[in-house]
Amino acid sequence: MSGKSKNMSQHQPLFCTAGRLRSGVVLLLWVWGTVFHGSAAWALDNGLALTPPMGWNSWNKFGCDVNEPLLESVADAMATNGMRDAGYQYVIIDDCWQVGRDASGNIIGDPQRFPSGIKALADYIHSRGLKFGIYSCAGTNTCAGRPGGLFHEEQDAKTYAAWGVDYLKYDWCNHANETGEQAYSRMHDALLRSGRPMVFSICEWGQNKPWLWGATVGNLWRTTGDIYDCWDCTEKWSSGWLHNLDSQAGLAAYAGPGHWNDPDMLEVGNGGMTDMEYKAHFSLWCIIAAPLIAGNDVRDMRPAIKKILTNKELIAVDQDPLGEQGVRVRKNGDAEVWAKRLADGSRAVVLFNRGTAPAEISVAWEDLGYPGHLKAAVRDLWTERKLGKFKNKFGATIAPHDVLVVNVMP
Ligand code: GLA
Repeated sequence: MSGKSKNMSQHQPLFCTAGRLRSGVVLLLWVWGTVFHGSAAWALDNGLALTPPMGWNSWNKFGCDVNEPLLESVADAMATNGMRDAGYQYVIIDDCWQVGRDASGNIIGDPQRFPSGIKALADYIHSRGLKFGIYSCAGTNTCAGRPGGLFHEEQDAKTYAAWGVDYLKYDWCNHANETGEQAYSRMHDALLRSGRPMVFSICEWGQNKPWLWGATVGNLWRTTGDIYDCWDCTEKWSSGWLHNLDSQAGLAAYAGPGHWNDPDMLEVGNGGMTDMEYKAHFSLWCIIAAPLIAGNDVRDMRPAIKKILTNKELIAVDQDPLGEQGVRVRKNGDAEVWAKRLADGSRAVVLFNRGTAPAEISVAWEDLGYPGHLKAAVRDLWTERKLGKFKNKFGATIAPHDVLVVNVMP
């Protein structure tokens, strides 16, 4: 109540002195500001994903080689190895679970690979205290050539609801001659009518600028092509995580509670990079409030990989309730500083060395929106150690392809 009257008294002088025209302009600016800052008023109507979704998806490691024992053993592992407790809740089966449609058009799971059926799999995953996600496509066929959802949206949404699906990733191969917004809105409406709340993950690779319309259609939208398990290589359809990171520049304003930019799933632990590079990949995903969807074999992780994926303080940065996507605040060649405003007024900061030689990297308080004269406490989030109090700035020598992630609290 007191907050409300305070806001009104702040706005009133503008409205009183400027008359109707000015009021209209102020209203327009307010609407623009609301969109720009990603207010919950523009979020999807399913109340889900108020922080970036966390889970596991089969694609990056297993591709089309999915089956019932794999999914069940992944759920078993996540429930017992610390992943579920760290916040990873969705177990998502990607492409290739489906083989056709029956005479009434109902989608059919592969009976060889999923002999107990998809509903039984959902039940199993739920029994492990986890949620169940599934994959389909806005086209006639999925990217792996399986039946897609085009012209079957209503029926598929009902089937998914009946199976107990909690999350739908919806791809863009073989789509009709329509915009992304049209196609994904149709599935959004069908999901809403199904009566079961499901996180809706728009996967059209950024082709229709989904950040411009995605907030009221889905809970997250891919902004790039597929990620590849390498530092900065480019393959035919996919590229290293650095390319996906760079594509987020300028998109921060579109993200917020319930609606997130998605630079694709994690490659941490898949073997194509060093542990230090995976630590950098994970740190940057946390600072940009990316969905944390693990893509490795979580049943068989080296301790170093598990330590990265389950780091509590880094995950807290990603999951911070303010829901701001961090931005690059400084770049000097390969030396970069990324920062994210957190709900308690502090900042999470990544000092990131993209280069091949050690680099001195520092962040100035003014880069973070703080006056330089303030003394601020700096804490290393990977080692969970206080580094001391500093005025004006903080810096360190960062090894090649490494990061230092700190919290700065004045
Ligand atoms: C596309 C998506 C991937 C994956 C595959 C499955 O390439 O972007 O994430 O879902 O399809 O075929």
